[in-house]
Amino acid sequence: MTTATLIDGRVIAAQLQTELLGRVAALAARDIRPGLAFVRVGEDPASRVYVGRKEKMATQIGITSATHVLPEATSESNLLELLAELNANPSVHGILVQAPLPKHIRQEIVFASVLPQKDVDGFHPVNVGKLMLGDPTGFQPCTPAGIRELLVRSRVPTDGAEVVVLGRGNIVGKPMAAILCQKAPGANATVTLCHSATRDIAAHCRRADILIAAMGVPEFVQADMVKPGATVIDVGVNRIADPASPSGTRLVGDVAFAAVQSVAGRLTPNPGGVGPMTIAMLMLNTVRAAEMVAG
Ligand code: GUN
Repeated sequence: MTTATLIDGRVIAAQLQTELLGRVAALAARDIRPGLAFVRVGEDPASRVYVGRKEKMATQIGITSATHVLPEATSESNLLELLAELNANPSVHGILVQAPLPKHIRQEIVFASVLPQKDVDGFHPVNVGKLMLGDPTGFQPCTPAGIRELLVRSRVPTDGAEVVVLGRGNIVGKPMAAILCQKAPGANATVTLCHSATRDIAAHCRRADILIAAMGVPEFVQADMVKPGATVIDVGVNRIADPASPSGTRLVGDVAFAAVQSVAGRLTPNPGGVGPMTIAMLMLNTVRAAEMVAG
């Protein structure tokens, strides 16, 4: 029985962070320190953890960060006012509004209210459009951009490869498909985007040289859905009941890790695969935003 090689996101993210230190130092020599503003609404526990990790990494590489927390009941106009202030603040180069937002706030209005040149999450319609057009001056969403970086740095060939993306969300699935179908190095793949209405998902998956699971269904990808030797990327973060754990729950991915490990050629661990890359790409986008202002 074979065992898949693990694609270590922590190691690759650390390489990226080391590369960024040089760019941050070059900016510092010109008296510019990249600034990143986080905005959280309410006290969603997962969002607190994610923003906390991003803040810590920002500090480590010399990005100044500030977190703005608004109460769960805040109005959409209060949030838009805060964004207008951050848009106007020259020491803020990047703005990240952590999703999900409370139901009474329209996410698409919020994302469209961040200046495109400060939209380091890549969710503004201008940046989404630039991604579709293959225009490199935009910002790409951090998770799919980080997955592409994982593939490139792990020397997984994408040119002409069959890629199957599971999930059509705006944060991962759709931009992932858009990135990998571009005529560009580290892309140029034949991409199939599967979703809840796809007939016979397993048959699509079995054709994939690269299978990217981002639909948020615990351990959906089983061993019999994976082509032997394929590269499997697990984006899922699902909390499931586990009476054996002290908290009563545990986190699992969208891939049945142990079973798939005996079929896949390469596989991301979860945690320790995609997550650290999302954070690293946010840092990269923020440093780029500061460089763009600096000229
Ligand atoms: N929620 C889940 N993923 C993300 C992300 O990449 N950025 C933001 N802002 N919110 C998220």
